[in-house]
Amino acid sequence: MESWQTQLWQVSPAEPGLKQHPGIREAAAWLRKGYPIAFPTETVYGLGADATSPEAVRRVFAAKGRPGDNPLIVHFHSPREVPEWVADFPPAAQKLADAFWPGPLTLVLPAPTGRIAPEVTAGLDSVAVRVPSHPVARALIAATGKPLAAPSANLSGRPSPTTAAHVLEDLGGRIPGVVDGGPTRVGVESTVLDLCGGQVTLLRPGSISRQELEQLLGQPLQVDPALEGEVAQPRSPGMKYRHYAPRGRMLLVEGPPEGVRRHILEQAQAGLQQGEKVGILTTAEGEQVYHRLAPAEQVLVLPCGSSRSPETVAQNLYACLRRFDQWGATLIYAEAISAAGVGEAVMNRLHKACGGRIQIEG
Ligand code: TXA
Ligand code: MG
Repeated sequence: MESWQTQLWQVSPAEPGLKQHPGIREAAAWLRKGYPIAFPTETVYGLGADATSPEAVRRVFAAKGRPGDNPLIVHFHSPREVPEWVADFPPAAQKLADAFWPGPLTLVLPAPTGRIAPEVTAGLDSVAVRVPSHPVARALIAATGKPLAAPSANLSGRPSPTTAAHVLEDLGGRIPGVVDGGPTRVGVESTVLDLCGGQVTLLRPGSISRQELEQLLGQPLQVDPALEGEVAQPRSPGMKYRHYAPRGRMLLVEGPPEGVRRHILEQAQAGLQQGEKVGILTTAEGEQVYHRLAPAEQVLVLPCGSSRSPETVAQNLYACLRRFDQWGATLIYAEAISAAGVGEAVMNRLHKACGGRIQIEG
């Protein structure tokens, strides 16, 4: 793999005329030459490459250390372009696109042969597409003049980046540049729906919630069995990899909040006595329960948003997981939150990040 002095271009999403911004123009020039560039979307930062260039797409897999059998999402500038890149754009896709594009929704559709590099779809006969709403992402795609294949811009297996600093932590020296548009708004990756085969199946929950989707479609979503537990051959290849994981051992504690916190307090005490560096992932509402734990240098309590607003938990989740790593947590206890709305996406990511789950009875 090539090594780089990774450049950073500051581009404020609020600036007018973004497509002509010198940072966007330089980044687009790299992309047109077949090199990967990281950029912000409304969900997380992506590592983009020209989706029509096999060489460019191979560089994305190499920079991330991503297994070649895990396909990428193709990002378009406008919803109008998408139908010409897929074999079929069924009425349900049109309805979803009208309601949620540009925005954090990915659709898996039957792929045509030809224009999209085969590396993008990892040999599947379907392709994942989305139209991001972030002004910097849209300007970059427009300036490049090509759809961009982009996975999250983290090293494979690590939490997705929600700031340019997170991208540099993982990919500094491995890619030519990062467009810095500030912290991302949503904080967890897009909702992924599979529309191949006449049904609408939820492959990955995101900020567009199951409730909103079912209301629009007028019927319940099918749910990929891989979301409910382990299966050998999930339809979304990404589901089979352990993901989003901090380096320390993380345990997820579910149940009524008081019982959960009492359990974590006891277990944290025991862990401290055994010399662990204990991390606790809680919310603004739970934080002070843990103040009685000492000594402070052996415990890191991170309030991740408010349990009354799952949006704020989603926004801060990955930054918290990365902080536990930097601090050197060896054992992490995470409080579960309610799975309503974007809480379903938060709980999905916590399940995948955790080495074990503990259920407290009410
Ligand atoms: O919000 C997002 O979706 C971010 C930003 C950068 O757009 N991207 C992202 O990409 O999360 P990535 O590569 O980290 O996750 C893509 C997921 C993986 O689980 C992959 O297996 C699945 O989408 N996927 C991609 N193409 C697929 C296909 N043809 N069939 C089924 N699943 C697919
Ligand atoms: Mg990812």
